[in-house]
Amino acid sequence: EKRYDYLIVGAGLFGSVFAHEMTNRGKKCLVIDKRDHLGGNVYCEEKEGINVHKYGAHIFHTNDKKIWDYVNQFATFNNYINSPLSLSKGKLYNLPFNMNTFYQLWGTKTPQEAKKIIDEQIAQYGVKSPQNLEEQALSLVGKDIYETFIKAYTEKQWGKKATELPAFIIKRLPVRYTYNNNYFNDIYQGIPIGGYNVIINGLLDGVDTKTGVDFFEDRIELESLADKIVYTGKIDEFFGYKHGYLEYRSLRFEHELHDIENYQGNAVVNYNDASYAFTRIIEHKHFEFGKQDKTIITKEYPENWDRSKEAYYPINNSRNQEIFKKYKKESQQLEGVIFGGRLAEYRYYDMHQIIASSLVKVEEISKIKPQ
Ligand code: FDA
Repeated sequence: EKRYDYLIVGAGLFGSVFAHEMTNRGKKCLVIDKRDHLGGNVYCEEKEGINVHKYGAHIFHTNDKKIWDYVNQFATFNNYINSPLSLSKGKLYNLPFNMNTFYQLWGTKTPQEAKKIIDEQIAQYGVKSPQNLEEQALSLVGKDIYETFIKAYTEKQWGKKATELPAFIIKRLPVRYTYNNNYFNDIYQGIPIGGYNVIINGLLDGVDTKTGVDFFEDRIELESLADKIVYTGKIDEFFGYKHGYLEYRSLRFEHELHDIENYQGNAVVNYNDASYAFTRIIEHKHFEFGKQDKTIITKEYPENWDRSKEAYYPINNSRNQEIFKKYKKESQQLEGVIFGGRLAEYRYYDMHQIIASSLVKVEEISKIKPQ
């Protein structure tokens, strides 16, 4: 008789939602994480009374009422609306691309004036079948927007020239002909009051957890504790990298404490030109309208990834997709192990999507009646 129904490897949103739901269904779960805290990438570290988004800025947004109601069981959300600014060539602009941006860029005041410029630039610089990211962007928004906001930023993000990046990285570049700086189009948006840890603590209330435990350091012992495993770590690591390494893009975060109340007047400022190596500065207190005397900012530097670094963004190219397919096939043949979450599925997910996918997984399993 095993002590647990489920051993859940990874205390991120996928694992925490899974543990919560299964506990509610009378199952016994043990959640482990190799980090020294719960929450995975949504974890916030409290410093000077400010919730610091340790693994990058996290803004919750969704169109799905069911997911919004779900997270609101655990936390109250504030009315934060993401309206990032962009600094490029010494000037500040509003994002996403909208009538404010166009006014700042060209002095245009009406949608007709702005649309005329964009259409003319697309006609002048765009091509019929774009072969790389640069051609794709020029064909979608023209030269000025591309050169001011997209070129250097994308090159910093991916560490490659825009002409060497595939066109499919940018599928659409929405432009808005209204004066609306709300980055997301979703109906629901906000930051949980008290930070994301409030949600994680709510999800894991009454669930056994252990931090600082790496599944691979004690695999046999850990596997012996439970009937089934839910694995949310890297899929290639689970299979001992036997089909090769899946590649990622990494980030380096430099946190700074400043002895002033307000550093940049906004939570997110993007640095879109090439004169800065970082892509953005986050000022965490503005996510929660903080009034502290001090402030904490984070500079976000894109980095090449190696196994000593955190894996942030999967690199979606044919090499990695081929390798991933092999691991996926093996994972489907394996009984007693459920794979889920961004690292096991080798895919970028937003928070609302990862919660939805964990809930779907729980439903799938709960439908299968025991023999
Ligand atoms: P997550 O990585 O959180 O959890 C996996 C856990 O498994 C980790 O804690 C890890 O330590 C653990 N683990 C791995 N291997 C292990 C092992 N061998 N043993 C034990 N533990 C192990 N989304 C959004 O909606 N709005 C936003 O603004 C943002 N912003 C954002 C910024 C940045 C920079 C990134 C990279 C991502 C976002 N996201 C986001 C996405 C969001 O972070 C993501 O959807 C969830 O955190 C994914 O949760 P998971 O549980 O899948 O992974």
